[in-house]
Amino acid sequence: MPNSSRISRVPFLAFTSDSETIAILKQFAEKNGWAEAIISSGDINSAIEFLKNNKSPKVLFVDIASAETMSASLDALADVCDPDIKVIVSGKVNEYSFYCWLMEVGISSYLLKPFNLNALEKAYSKATIDETIMSAPVPAAENKARIISVIGARGGVGATTICVNLAWIIANHLGQKTGLLDFDPQLGTVALALDLEPSRGLRDALEKPDRIDSLFMDRVMIKIDEYLSVLSTEEALDDNIVIGESAAEALFQQVRSKFSFVIIDLPRTISSFTRYALKNSDHVVCVSEYNIMGLRESLRYLDFCKDNLQTSPPVFIANRVGLAGKHQMPQAEFEKGLGQKIDFNIPFALDANAASISGEVFAETAKNAPATRALHAIAAHFVGEVAEKPSAKFSLFGGLFGGKK
Ligand SMILES: Nc1ncnc2c1ncn2[C@@H]1O[C@H](COP(=O)(O)OP(=O)(O)OP(=O)(O)O)[C@@H](O)[C@H]1O
Ligand SMILES: [Mg+2]
Repeated sequence: MPNSSRISRVPFLAFTSDSETIAILKQFAEKNGWAEAIISSGDINSAIEFLKNNKSPKVLFVDIASAETMSASLDALADVCDPDIKVIVSGKVNEYSFYCWLMEVGISSYLLKPFNLNALEKAYSKATIDETIMSAPVPAAENKARIISVIGARGGVGATTICVNLAWIIANHLGQKTGLLDFDPQLGTVALALDLEPSRGLRDALEKPDRIDSLFMDRVMIKIDEYLSVLSTEEALDDNIVIGESAAEALFQQVRSKFSFVIIDLPRTISSFTRYALKNSDHVVCVSEYNIMGLRESLRYLDFCKDNLQTSPPVFIANRVGLAGKHQMPQAEFEKGLGQKIDFNIPFALDANAASISGEVFAETAKNAPATRALHAIAAHFVGEVAEKPSAKFSLFGGLFGGKK
């Protein structure tokens, strides 16, 4: 079963301890149809403790613990929450400089106590207006999805991990309707990586592509939440599955009209099915590691794109950077061999392995890891390319966390 409870985010959580504020929050919760459980007793420090082990809400309301320790508390909060969270702070500090400082570090609103329901509603709508901007559909060309196909230069370099995390970030942090497709019907691991049941009935359609229509796609794609849908199947190994170009064409046609972004995890073997994807995607991403084998295969894919498909060169990502320590090929040497720059580096992250074993999304379980920040930058690169104001997508702690993301 899709483990969606782990995936969706609650809209609002509050940590406060004075009865007057609790009463206002209760009215606010009731008006929005939320359970009172969204209100917890405590302050910013209780929120930090809670968010260490729980998902960030979209909007967080916290009482100040003390003005003196506020800076340290916000720092600690930044370490445990999603970078796109909106925070409303409330307290009794009535100093203009304190208010200015909160705004500077990216707090959405400061509510001076006592405040009324109207003030809280205004603060919430300010936070969610930003969110709406963030979630506004990207004005992609002709309102069609941007398709990004990801291929590993070699086996096991982390292509699937990157697909899953990019799709997750683009959907859940950048608010884009996203489709994640596993193009390896037998050995694909996207469903496994997300702890999902593989889709059923896809094979038949892949072999008879005229069956692939909008209704069929709605049936076979696993809808994780409002923003992210996944297609990943697990056919028996003893079958000889022949999937042609027309199946890829039909899938492309369907997903282009259903999503704003589509991430495809491509198997490395070239068939007419995968060739179509490589040729017709808006971007091909080639994942490698800094070693001689990775360089050799990256070069082959680069030449294949240029000479055979006559498409733009892939976007190159080096993954697990730092793992090989002093044995790692220097980036400059790799780039010289490839004749091209590496576009993004993703550092080695110990937690990635643990996340993949337990079917978790790494970007979610290790929110502030350097590898997660790199994945956010890659997602922002693709989404920002078609968005008018990419900077509007990064909110809250933009100021405080600018360098951390
Ligand atoms: N940046 C990283 N740091 C540490 N481990 C990573 C990183 N990226 C991926 N991994 C781990 O590497 C392993 C292989 O990853 P993944 O399955 O994504 O590779 P792949 O290229 O899709 O493999 P395949 O060729 O089998 O499709 C996984 O255990 C994953 O958790
Ligand atoms: Mg894979």
